[in-house]
Amino acid sequence: MASPIKSLKAKKFLPMLGGRQARFGEGSPDIPSGSDSARAIATALHPVRQYLKVASVTDRGDGCKSYKLVPDTEKGTEKLAYFGAGKYLTVFEHIGGMPLTRAYSISSSPRNSLEGFYELTIKKVDGGLMSNYILSEWKEGTAVEVSAPSGNFEYQPLRDASTVICLAGGSGITPFVSMANAVNDGDEDFNLVLLYGSRNPGSILFRDELEALEKQCSKIKIVHVLSDTPDDEMPAGSEKGFITAELIKKYAPANEDYSVFICGPQQMYEFLEKETAKLGIERKFIRREMFGELHNPGSQPDYPSDVPENVSITVTIQDETKTVTGKSCDSVMQILEKNGIAVPARCRSGECGFCHSHLLSGDVYIPPQLDYRRLADKQFGCIHPCCSFPLSDLVLNVPAAR
Ligand code: FES
Repeated sequence: MASPIKSLKAKKFLPMLGGRQARFGEGSPDIPSGSDSARAIATALHPVRQYLKVASVTDRGDGCKSYKLVPDTEKGTEKLAYFGAGKYLTVFEHIGGMPLTRAYSISSSPRNSLEGFYELTIKKVDGGLMSNYILSEWKEGTAVEVSAPSGNFEYQPLRDASTVICLAGGSGITPFVSMANAVNDGDEDFNLVLLYGSRNPGSILFRDELEALEKQCSKIKIVHVLSDTPDDEMPAGSEKGFITAELIKKYAPANEDYSVFICGPQQMYEFLEKETAKLGIERKFIRREMFGELHNPGSQPDYPSDVPENVSITVTIQDETKTVTGKSCDSVMQILEKNGIAVPARCRSGECGFCHSHLLSGDVYIPPQLDYRRLADKQFGCIHPCCSFPLSDLVLNVPAAR
């Protein structure tokens, strides 16, 4: 028998019931279809793949180029998926027989996707297989295959403060260029203070664009932080050295909450981890874009000793089982890719869960800062191959690549 309280609560809803039933009665029994159906909207916003082509290439100097990508209608992509500023696209390529994926932040504004293009900005990286391939091979007309926009590095009004201090290093500027454009377009509503670390004025990416945005929009403030520039060559308004807690406090609003967003190379995250701890702000106000792929796991402080140099992996994917070999310094995903096996992937840094696989036997090392698995996943032996490094021979099941 229902308690008096439950009965009382239920009674409050009774008058609404008649109206609701009447509205259901008036509705069509057919499942909605066509361009306005929920499924069509979901597919447009989250396509599994987008087929694009390079419309133009802009050389930004310092080994960096921007690629304007438009839909390849001949391959079936008519419109681009819209996105929140800060998201990335995963690029799919085949290089030397290897199926490879890499995530790159979108540097254009969300509004540009409605106008028919995305911009990806790629910087040369020493030993960077994909970035160096793109920089040498992508030309006007090159066909490009990407994911839907993905990631969690975006402004959330319910979570974030009304001022965001953006800390960028090198090509980590790209999501902030998108955010600054979105603020300027009126599509995002927050105060954006950008502290952008570069070696010298010549290595600043998007310098003119950022200055123009700052002039146009009172909600945008840009400060260049230059580590390697003689005093007499420092541009007006720039800061010398590195981004420190003192510098963040100097530009943060006084007596007001602020959020901190970070995107840059791995050394910058390690440095800023200590600096942001000195700010005394709540952890939820500090967001960082993914670490990216971890190389050389042996340099991690908790990496075990006596790990064999070579390992074998027996993998079942799409009902086919293969055994391959590789180096234990490579991630499980890298070993499989080097053996021509495509693994579903987006972020390649443990965060998105897209590569979620089942480890049936063997041990792996997972760097703690990349371990985003849920407790149940850990208990049931699920791993993310993109950030798991074999410590022994492995047997695992991997979902088919999408
Ligand atoms: S690709 Fe994102 S968790 Fe592995």
